[in-house]
Amino acid sequence: MNIKRICVLCFSPTGGTEKIARLVAGELAGPLGLEPVYFDFTKPQGRRDEYRFGADDLLVMASPVYAGRLPNKLMPEYQAKIFGSSTPAIPICVFGNRSPDEALRELVLLLEGNGFQIAAGAAFAGRHAFSDRVGEGRPDQSDLDEIRSFAAKAAEKLSMDALPPLDMDRSEIGPYYTPLKEDGTPAKFLKARPLTRWEKCSRCGACARACPMGSIDPQTMDAVGLCIKCQACVRRCTVQAKYFEDPDFLSHVAMLEQNYTSRAENVILI
Ligand SMILES: Cc1cc2nc3c(=O)[nH]c(=O)nc-3n(C[C@H](O)[C@H](O)[C@H](O)COP(=O)(O)O)c2cc1C
Ligand code: SF4
Ligand code: SF4
Repeated sequence: MNIKRICVLCFSPTGGTEKIARLVAGELAGPLGLEPVYFDFTKPQGRRDEYRFGADDLLVMASPVYAGRLPNKLMPEYQAKIFGSSTPAIPICVFGNRSPDEALRELVLLLEGNGFQIAAGAAFAGRHAFSDRVGEGRPDQSDLDEIRSFAAKAAEKLSMDALPPLDMDRSEIGPYYTPLKEDGTPAKFLKARPLTRWEKCSRCGACARACPMGSIDPQTMDAVGLCIKCQACVRRCTVQAKYFEDPDFLSHVAMLEQNYTSRAENVILI
């Protein structure tokens, strides 16, 4: 294939997905002899227009895993704004050391439906947005080795005249994962929103600028719109003024910390 651009498109509220997408693209740059071009799908302004890629582009598309699938509130925009024209693509999902469940298959099928041909795909583990203790230290040295070998194999496939179809189970995508509390019952935190410790808040506006849904009022710093629990506002606040106190959310985080600290394996489709 005659690839002239490596395009990297990420949705990455807390930066873990982008970090791994950049590692993959960096490893592809050498063998393909091209510098990657980055497109940020995270902020509302980065999702205003459609992205159309040509047959001589390679798209590396990276998304975090939310509830075992692609983030449901982003799906309409993923579907309506990212198009290929027989464009080779490498879907990358980043999950927080529990499981990618159905997300990688979902991203492969979405891209195929939007005009892309899949060269290879992977789900790599990163730190969980909810807790530094879940996925701590990921990506580690072993992940870096896996990313390097994955990119080398993908580049080899991209050097062929035509891509062979990806060998993947194409059955119907399963349901979203139900988050659990410490007692094993469902954690219901759909309506949870971040709160503010006003005595600490300097009204710097960093949380409002970081929110991918544009849901934090830049005057009051209150979360007023749709909240996808991405944690961008919490992690961007340098004085720990943003926090969640929803009991079901906190119980889910505690459950993850109890059960998902041992190393989860990456998933590679090649
Ligand atoms: C709402 C939400 C749901 C998540 N669900 C899962 C999950 O089902 N499995 C998993 O392993 N990690 C899950 N994670 C962790 C993210 O996949 C992981 O932290 C990812 O790296 C976040 O991407 P970002 O750093 O680019 O924002 C979830 C994170 C959030 C915010
Ligand atoms: S980032 Fe923190 S300090 Fe800045 S406005 Fe938001 S809550 Fe306040
Ligand atoms: S308000 Fe919700 S959606 Fe916005 S950054 Fe915070 S956690 Fe993410």
